[in-house]
Amino acid sequence: MAIKVEELKVSFKEAKILKGINLHIKKGKLTGILGPNGCGKSTLLKGILGILKNKDGSIHIGEKKLQEYSQKELAKKLSFVPQKSNLSSPMNVEEFILMGRLPHLKSSWHGYSQDDRTITKNIMMELGLWDFKDRITFSLSGGEFQRVLLARALTQNPEILLLDEPTSALDLNHAVELMSKVKNMVKKKDITAVAVIHDLNLASMFCDELIIMKDGIAKYHGNPKDILTKDILLEIYNLKCRVIVNKDDNPYIIPII
Ligand SMILES: Nc1ncnc2c1ncn2[C@@H]1O[C@H](COP(=O)(O)OP(=O)(O)OP(=O)(O)O)[C@@H](O)[C@H]1O
Ligand SMILES: [Mg+2]
Repeated sequence: MAIKVEELKVSFKEAKILKGINLHIKKGKLTGILGPNGCGKSTLLKGILGILKNKDGSIHIGEKKLQEYSQKELAKKLSFVPQKSNLSSPMNVEEFILMGRLPHLKSSWHGYSQDDRTITKNIMMELGLWDFKDRITFSLSGGEFQRVLLARALTQNPEILLLDEPTSALDLNHAVELMSKVKNMVKKKDITAVAVIHDLNLASMFCDELIIMKDGIAKYHGNPKDILTKDILLEIYNLKCRVIVNKDDNPYIIPII
């Protein structure tokens, strides 16, 4: 499913955070969202998720407007890996990841089916989390918990996957592994993935398209080679960089201090 955002505006009291975003996010692609702290990246994801009241403009998910979906329909189609997660009660890892299956339960009277448990186990195995199944979520390291959040989002079997800084707590090896898994999933299941990401080199390596935001506007949208240029990076981050285009045709960024 593609996502179309038109003239999206979000304000918190007097502060205008998104000032008219227009985007067409393609199906079957991994799109990265870049930009400085506070420019509105997480707010844009929350807008697409339909959890902001104070917004103007329109969002289409596939052919339908966001507000034409019921909560349950949206929960089946969209899953979200948040930048921060507030855990209110201690839970074991397997039960926490199983919650991704809640939108698929036949009714609230039915518990999880054997299928739900098998889907969850397979994803946990794939993400190297099965050994953690009986651990309490509170006891996990930051990076382990970030992988658990991805696992919960994947058990939802979404058509659209929204990820807010999914690699921020991961070491380089796990960050590369997580991005490869997301990219493979996008290709294999033809889903639409949107990932806010600060690491420009990871974004260049894995994303099919990039959107660069600044001050509540989506300023640039294109493939990594076209928009990760030293002039654009200077404009967006106020930072001088060298950009090296490698054999794989992806740009790599080295900041100059
Ligand atoms: N509920 C809110 N009330 C008031 N201001 C808010 C609220 N949510 C976000 N903001 C402000 O909106 C701006 C954009 O926030 P957002 O979380 O979208 O930034 P971001 O681009 O994701 O930044 P980061 O890279 O630091 O995560 C920030 O200045 C933030 O303080
Ligand atoms: Mg954010």
